[in-house]
Amino acid sequence: MSCIIAGTDTDVGKTVASAVLAKALARRGDVGYWKPIASGARDGRDVDVVARLAGVPCAAESYLLEEPLSPHLAARLAGVAIELDTLEQAWQDLRRGHPGRRWLVEGAGGLLVPLDDAGTLQVDFFARLALPVVLVARSGLGTINHSLLSLEALHRRGLDVAGIVLVGSPNTENRRAIETLGQVATVAEIPWLDPLDPASVAAVAEGIDLPDFAT
Ligand SMILES: Nc1ncnc2c1ncn2[C@@H]1O[C@H](COP(=O)(O)OP(=O)(O)OP(=O)(O)O)[C@@H](O)[C@H]1O
Ligand SMILES: [Mg+2]
Repeated sequence: MSCIIAGTDTDVGKTVASAVLAKALARRGDVGYWKPIASGARDGRDVDVVARLAGVPCAAESYLLEEPLSPHLAARLAGVAIELDTLEQAWQDLRRGHPGRRWLVEGAGGLLVPLDDAGTLQVDFFARLALPVVLVARSGLGTINHSLLSLEALHRRGLDVAGIVLVGSPNTENRRAIETLGQVATVAEIPWLDPLDPASVAAVAEGIDLPDFAT
């Protein structure tokens, strides 16, 4: 099944986690990657990173915004209005265009990032897609709070949480606290990879036991 790759914050490792999960999911059939809303395009595109690291098919962004800012602000500066109807239509088109393909849909930044000046939040978009969410979080200090807050935000909107991915040096205590207090399973722990390249991504992907959402 397809899922959303959400994060507790920007820069937590959603794109790297998407590449690792895509590589792991590819063991069980066709998988693609989509970043529907991307800001900061002038510094590079997540889609290029995933294509390079995982070699899976990638869809084009619906909103590709130049400035490295929150989507609502990057969109305002670009004179663009981010519309949930447009995003939902793009998602339906992707699904119809590739029957049987599972998609990893990467969010922009954290969950409560605004998409417009009217108060629409990214999590509202996720609720429209009604896909299970994989939450990507840092492994180290501060992650318990950010992870539990994010899980609360997802649960409040009735979103199904498929699991959590922890990025960085494995930390057993943090993992256990998030699993217990957040009632969530850990899908993967992704260590800091140096070098970060297709081989190191493939090696981590190899060690992942695919969860139910992968079927
Ligand atoms: N496991 C890892 N090993 C090595 N580098 C990593 C790892 N995870 C993330 N990084 C690096 O950290 C930075 C942020 O990671 P990434 O781009 O995946 O974050 P993100 O959550 O997708 O950010 P955004 O909100 O901009 O989409 C990147 O430079 C990335 O290469
Ligand atoms: Mg990213």
